[in-house]
Amino acid sequence: MEVLIFPDSSSLAKKSADLVESQITKYADSVIGLATGSTPLGLYRELIERHKSHGLSFKKVKTFNLDEYVGIPDDHPQSYRTFMDDHFFNQIDIEKSNTKVPDGMAGNPLEVGPAYEKSIEEAGGIDLQVLGVGTDGHIGFNEPTSSLGSITRVKTLTQQTIEDNSRFFEPDEFQPKLAITMGIKTILDARRILILANGENKAQAVRDMVEGPLSAFCPASALQLHQRTTVLIDEPAASKLTLKGYYKFVGEMQDDLLRKHRPSDWISR
Ligand code: GLP
Repeated sequence: MEVLIFPDSSSLAKKSADLVESQITKYADSVIGLATGSTPLGLYRELIERHKSHGLSFKKVKTFNLDEYVGIPDDHPQSYRTFMDDHFFNQIDIEKSNTKVPDGMAGNPLEVGPAYEKSIEEAGGIDLQVLGVGTDGHIGFNEPTSSLGSITRVKTLTQQTIEDNSRFFEPDEFQPKLAITMGIKTILDARRILILANGENKAQAVRDMVEGPLSAFCPASALQLHQRTTVLIDEPAASKLTLKGYYKFVGEMQDDLLRKHRPSDWISR
């Protein structure tokens, strides 16, 4: 895993936007996996800004979102479809038909997973997957003890995730306890992965993901198996890392090398 530590969330957002921009500049028809939550908002703002200021185009890009709640319609204010439309898709030039979010209102939610996997495969697989991490180490909605070999399916949320996400719902509003999420295998099949985390409340999950044992108890630790995962975190989220100094040293060494050789081989295809 490559671990990049930033002084603040704005430099983290800029770097993650640089990586996404390079991918779609090289391959205009890139397939990008996207996440919801507060963490990637800075990245989306940055990409929107680049679209407006210098015409970064998403015209041919296809996207697949990680997950969606079961039982709330697309146009519900808290659906992940609404989140993506409001915070990203409606402000760039992407074709809406090229943006996929699992169908949380399907008559049979158990049928959604295999169909979603098929459409990712038909699109040629995910070139670059953007992830956040839950305080319990979940990615997508793969909660602790999710199979490390899982594909898209229905998952029951943990109490901690329900509480973490309750801030988005009115006190008396229906809050889903089930979600459809890409599996851990689906995520690991992406050619490149960026995982973003901000704030001290993510420090333990980041520690378990990067330095903990590979374990279904921290689903994000499965990323240790992936060849091209970059972890982008701010200082508070990095505060529990034992080898923090080493990751910074590696970053400086790589910057040096990149300046000399400018390899573009991290771009995925
Ligand atoms: C939800 C999403 C995850 C996201 C997590 C963290 O559970 N399903 O994809 O990573 O929240 O959210 P936040 O970035 O708001 O902390």
